[in-house]
This record gives sequence, C-alpha cells and structure tokens, in this order.
Amino acid sequence: VDLFGARKNSVGVEFGDDAARGAFLAAVGAARLPERPALPIVGGTEIARPTRAVISPVDGTTRVGAVGEGDGETARAAIDACAAAFPAYAASPVEARATALDKAADALEAGRDRLIALLCAEAGKTLADGIAEVREAVDFCRYYAAEARRQFGVDVVLPGPTGEDNRLRHRGRGVFVCISPWNFPLAIFTGQVAAALAAGNTVVAKPAEQTPLIAAEAVRILHASGIPAAALAFVPGDGRVGAALTHDPRIAGVAFTGSTETAWAINRTLADKRGPIVPLIAETGGLNAMLVDATALGEQVADDVVASAFRSAGQRCSALRLLVVQADVADHMIDLVTGAAKELALGDPADPATDVGPVIDAEAKAGIDGHVEAHRAAGRLRHAGDLPGGTLARGTFVAPTVIELASVRDLDREVFGPVLHVVRYKAADFDKVLDDIAASGYGLTLGVHSRIARTVQQVIARLPVGNVYVNRNIIGAVVGSQPFGGSGLSGTGPKAGGPHYLSRFALEQVISTNT
Ligand code: SER
Repeated sequence: VDLFGARKNSVGVEFGDDAARGAFLAAVGAARLPERPALPIVGGTEIARPTRAVISPVDGTTRVGAVGEGDGETARAAIDACAAAFPAYAASPVEARATALDKAADALEAGRDRLIALLCAEAGKTLADGIAEVREAVDFCRYYAAEARRQFGVDVVLPGPTGEDNRLRHRGRGVFVCISPWNFPLAIFTGQVAAALAAGNTVVAKPAEQTPLIAAEAVRILHASGIPAAALAFVPGDGRVGAALTHDPRIAGVAFTGSTETAWAINRTLADKRGPIVPLIAETGGLNAMLVDATALGEQVADDVVASAFRSAGQRCSALRLLVVQADVADHMIDLVTGAAKELALGDPADPATDVGPVIDAEAKAGIDGHVEAHRAAGRLRHAGDLPGGTLARGTFVAPTVIELASVRDLDREVFGPVLHVVRYKAADFDKVLDDIAASGYGLTLGVHSRIARTVQQVIARLPVGNVYVNRNIIGAVVGSQPFGGSGLSGTGPKAGGPHYLSRFALEQVISTNT
C-alpha cells in the first residue's frame, strides 16, 4: 500500500558544503528575535495582557522576548470563539484545510533560519537540533495534509445488499485542546495543532510556559497560510490555563504531550465531567533502555548511546536513560561510551561546534543536579563532564553524566536531562532483565544492539514499547517513517506522524441509504 504518495520529507542543511554552511550560519546569526510579545489570540484578535520577559536558558540573562499570559477567563473566551467557529470550519472542504497546512509548511521552511535562531535563544536548542525541529514541524504539516486528503477527502464506500448504499465518512469532533511541551516547542506544538485542524476540529493551543514565543510564531504562520483565524486560538500561560481548558464541558478532546503526572490529572478531569465522553491523546515520558549483548559492535554502540542519551541535553522523551550491557563486554563498552562522552562540547547552542546546550530552566537543572549528587555521594558516578564558564556561567547547563547502577530496578523515575545510567547483566539473567525493564511500566522507546536475530526477536516480543530501534540510536523519529508514541506510563498509544493518528482526532459517521 502506498501510504505516502508523492509527499517527501523536508531537507536539512549540507554542513559539508562550505558555502551552504556559511550562508546558513550567517542567516541564523543575523536573524532578529521577535519584537512583538506573544499574546493570547482569540477569534483572530490579540488580547492585551500584562507581559513578562522570556529569559534565555543559555546565559540566564538575555531577554528573548515577552509573553502576556492568559488566565481562566482567556481560556473560556478562546473556547467560546472556537465553538462558534466550529460548524463553518468543520463544513469547509478537506482540500482547503490541507492546502493551508501545505502553505504553512512552505512558510515554516522559508522562515527556517529565523525560527532556528529563536529555538536556540528561547529553548537552548543546538543548531543541529533546531534544523531537525523545523524539518519535523514542516513534515507534520505536509504529512497530515496528505493524510487528510487521503483519508477524509472521499467517502469510504462499504458493501451492502442491492438497494442499500453504505458509506463511512469522517468529521471533526469539535473544539480540540492541544497542550504541548517545551522540549519540542515548535515541532510538537505544530504537529498537534496541524493534526487536529486537518481532522476538521477547531483548536485552542496552549504552549509550554517556558516556550511561548516560538509557538506564537507557528500560530502566526498557520493563520497567514489560510487557517481561519477563528478556528485556531492561542492561549499562553501556566498549568492554570491548561486546567481551565480541560475542565470546560464544551471541549471535544485533548492532545497532550508532557509528564505522566499531568496526563493522569487531565484524564481525571475528563473522567469527572458529566458531559460528552471525549478522548485524551497523551504522549508522556519513558524509562527508555538499550540492551547491548556481547555480539554488538563497540564503536557503533558508543556513537548511538552518546547520541541517544546526550543529544538535546537528554531532553527528549525518546532519550536513552538505561544502558543495559552484557557483563562480559561491560567494561569495554563503558570505556567507549565515557570516552565518546568526554568529546562532547558543552556550550552556546548557536555555536556550530556545540554538541550539548543548556537544560530548559533552573528548576529542571536543580532536579537533575540533585539526582546526580545523590549518586555521586554513593560513589556511582562513572563520568561527569565540565560546565562552561564565562558568559555562560549563569546558563542552566548540566554536564553529560554516566552513573552505574546495580540493577535496572534502581532507576524508578525519568530523569529528564543528559544523565545515562548503566547496568550490567549476566547472560543467564537475560529474561530477568527484560522482566525488570517491563516492570517499570513505561513503554516508549527501546534499543537493541545485537547481531543475533533470536535475541532481537525475544526482546521485541517481551517488551511492548512503542518504538524499537535495532542496531542504531533511539532518537529522532522521522515523520512517516517512524510513527512515534508509546503505551503504559508513556501515553495512550496514538502514533504522531503515522497513518492512524488523524483518525483519533475525528468522528466516524456511517450513512446507510435505502436507494
Ligand atoms: N519524537 C522525538 C524523538 O523521536 C521525541 O521526543 O526523538
């Protein structure tokens, strides 16, 4: 089945080509940060609110821009506007929505360098991460546009006896609430919103508190590309805005990416309402493991581990938290991994030489540092890099760290930063190790490095995770190639960037006509 038609994923920057690299760096360097504050946008109109400065995590000093956060009243006004806009938007042709998303993809691509500069400043993204993030946002828009045309553009004609016409069609559910995280403040924000809009819903989008500016840019681009202003409202703010949105009895569904704790809270809120029973599409965290046996190729493992654990400063829900290595090769593998980790350059994310930027804010840094210090005190640190000084001394950096644990069960929570935990296993205990990984209850990503097909199959069969990566790194799922999402404590299962995602945002209606 050709699920993808003529759609192609967006392209990156050819860093090996000096001219292309130079032009890219010059454009990012010259890009201006947004002058307009990110304000709530309701019914196409900005709402004046008191503003606060958004400060960069890179140096704890640079003012990136300003945000005027909404409150409960703004949230209600946004739902009023999106509820009023829903009938006309739901009745609009699928082609019109898809065309608007394609145009938004083009505009994101055209604005790439400016958006990357903002991602570096506001979220501390490295240039490589910024490029990948803009590409993912572009790909989400084009992918969901193509999927909407394919799945929703025509009725599905179903069989029946002579004289009976049966057809299935999709329609939007109503007002969808999209709540997105700071770690992919452009890609996940845009992906949720694009999916909900493609399926015919109107949308109230709440970005993470830490990253409202890049999200506001995405909303401006979507509006300018033909998404009706009234069909997409934007309400920056903290958890109180999210709570006001999810408590509202008029909403038709919630797409949420963030912590498991918050997903539980939203689930409870939705369940307690005496009103329409609406879906929650949740993508949360992971306690992601990589199993490495004695047949694995050392240098490749080291590359894949370092990318999986430390790229994006470990702030990906897909990131590697637990490296589980067969005891016979463990010392060798740990040496290779710590050797490669030592080579990582920590620093200004806008510098092309930087591999690891800051974590998102001081609260995140304090939590990760506390975890590392407890293990340092217990003598379990195998590697800890140095922090940058000078103008970056006030940035929220955490050095890549490797901690050795006695058992998989010793890690019982996701540490959302550049911290890798290593555990050794004896070949005879392999089944028990798999049981211990399964016992965490998370099910997002998993890596296996082995040249034995039976081992790979055994691991895949035992662990019901959403995304398994064999003999490669475990991050950077590509839209359309690695539909992404997990189950259990990691989420409700729908795969972003996959062929079944849009249907979770839509209602199915079957029309049976006696002809
Ligand atoms: N989709 C991202 C990745 O695959 C997740 O956080 O890395």
